Amino acid sequence: MGTPESVTFYDQHPFDWIPADASGEIDSVVSRPLVDLIQSLDVESLVLDIGCGPGRVLGFLKKRGIRCIGLDRSRVSLSLAIKRYDRPGAVGDNLHLPFADRTADVVISDGVIHHTEDPVTAFTENLRILKPGGRMYLAVYKPGGRYPMLYKFPGGLIRGSLSRRWSEPFVTLFFQVPYYVIHFLRSRGKRTWSGARNLFYDYFVTPRVAFLPRRTIEEWCEKQQAHIVRYEENRGQNVHSFLVEKEEPNNRCDLIKAGTLEELVEEKRETP
Ligand SMILES: C[S@@+](CC[C@H](N)C(=O)[O-])C[C@H]1O[C@@H](n2cnc3c(N)ncnc32)[C@H](O)[C@@H]1O
Repeated sequence: MGTPESVTFYDQHPFDWIPADASGEIDSVVSRPLVDLIQSLDVESLVLDIGCGPGRVLGFLKKRGIRCIGLDRSRVSLSLAIKRYDRPGAVGDNLHLPFADRTADVVISDGVIHHTEDPVTAFTENLRILKPGGRMYLAVYKPGGRYPMLYKFPGGLIRGSLSRRWSEPFVTLFFQVPYYVIHFLRSRGKRTWSGARNLFYDYFVTPRVAFLPRRTIEEWCEKQQAHIVRYEENRGQNVHSFLVEKEEPNNRCDLIKAGTLEELVEEKRETP
C-alpha cells in the first residue's frame, strides 16, 4: 500500500459543504445517476467509496442500510465521515488500494481521480477491486465549458495570492465574499460560510486537476474489460459522469479472434 501524504490539501480543506444530517435531501446534493444507482442496490451489496471525503455519499448509503466502506487519502476527511456516519473507513491512496481484487459490487469515485497524480492508474485500481459484473460510478471534470478557464484565471491569481500571507485578505475580500454571497442566494440561505469556503478551495485552490474527455474514459474501458452503461454529459456543469460495468471474464474473447483460431487449426493440420 502506498504511503498517504502526511497532510494533504483536503486535510486542510475537506470537501465539507453539506450539513451532516442532509441525508433526507439526496436529490439536491447527489447527481441523478448516482441516486439511481444507490436506489437500485441490494442491501447485501458491498460498496466501496474511494475518495469518500467527509462522507457525503456514505450518509445516503447508510440510510438505505447498504454495506459500505469509505477510503480517503485525507485523514481529516475520513475522520469526519466515520464520526458522522459510523461506517468503516480506511486512510489510503487510490493509486494503491488496500483491497483485494474483485471485492466490491460497486465502486464510487465521485470527483476523485482527476485530483490524483495518475488518473488512469486510479481508474485501473478501482476496476481491479470491482467484481466482474460490478459497476463503478465515475464523475470527473470535463474539458470545455467554463471551469477549465476559471481554474486558470482567476484560479491562478487566487493560488498565487494565497501563497503569500500578506495577500490572503485580498482573496477573502474580492473572491471569497462574492462567492459566498452567490452560493448563499442560490441555495436560498442554506450554504454556510465554512461550506462555501471549502467549495471555493476545492474549485479554485486545489493543487491538481485533470480534465478528462469522454473519449479517454472510453479508451480506458476498451483496454480494461469494461464498458460504459450510462453516460451523463451534465450540460452546464463541470463534471460528466459514467456508469462503468466490469465485464465477466468470458464475455470477451478478443485474445482468440475467430480468424486466429482457424489459422492455428490450419497450421496444426499442415504440420507433419
Ligand atoms: C472533491 S473531493 C470529493 C469527495 C467525495 N467523493 C464527495 O463527492 O463528496 C475529492 C476527495 O478525493 C480525495 N483524494 C484525492 N486524491 C486521492 C488519492 N490519491 N487517494 C485517495 N483519495 C484521494 C481527497 O482527499 C478528497 O477527499
